[in-house]
Amino acid sequence: MNILFIGDIVGRTGRTAVKKILPQLKQKYGVDFTIANGENLAGGTGMTFETYREMNEAGVDYFTSGNHIWKKADFVPNLDIKDVNVIRPANYADNVPGKGYVELKVNSIKLIIINLLGLVFMPEYLNNPFLEADKILSQYAISDKLFAIVDFHAEATSEKVCLGHYLDGRVSAIVGTHTHIPTADARVLPKGSAYITDVGMAGSFNSSIGDEAEPIIEHFKTGLPFKLEVAGPPAVVDGVLIKINDKTGLANEIVQIREIVD
Ligand SMILES: [Fe+2]
Ligand SMILES: [Fe+2]
Repeated sequence: MNILFIGDIVGRTGRTAVKKILPQLKQKYGVDFTIANGENLAGGTGMTFETYREMNEAGVDYFTSGNHIWKKADFVPNLDIKDVNVIRPANYADNVPGKGYVELKVNSIKLIIINLLGLVFMPEYLNNPFLEADKILSQYAISDKLFAIVDFHAEATSEKVCLGHYLDGRVSAIVGTHTHIPTADARVLPKGSAYITDVGMAGSFNSSIGDEAEPIIEHFKTGLPFKLEVAGPPAVVDGVLIKINDKTGLANEIVQIREIVD
């Protein structure tokens, strides 16, 4: 099974680029299922139903998210609607809207997608992501061949690589999101799970993580507040192709993808 995972899609620039390039990527890599992080879909923070539908129709089958998913309050009730293909990090408190993992059928194989948020440099009140992963995975028998993709939405590289090793051999892949900057460490870990510290983003190439750099440079120079503005094209589309062994659920290979889209 070939899973394409695209990093955080940032605003119109990211959406337009994904729409343009996704059909080619699917054909080139024989993609069976496409997942993207959608926390920055609408105006750079949060998601709206319109931007969700736009990207779903463009071929993104399922969305993970992260700390920004709450920014468009109108969208939040959709997280509890079964047919809306979006999860939020699992390690929020139980009374928070939405679900943190989902079970799907892809090519008659059960695929589990799990979303977790890091604790380091994250201001949220969260449950421990390592223990939350244990809790979710403990529902499945050890003998089950688990086809599971974990999006670990986190800031600190140490926390991310440690969760990778912690879940190695128990899931098909652990991919990092949130920093919008791809790391050069895509690999299959010793026990067979694909891993990358950060997939990157789909958003403006000449930007600060998808947004106009100038106001943020001013902020760094002065400490004064600034307004985020989604930056324009050209865009970069960062992703990984995870090739999963249909017999074991573990990864045969992880291929890093980077496309510049005008
Ligand atoms: Fe993001
Ligand atoms: Fe984030």
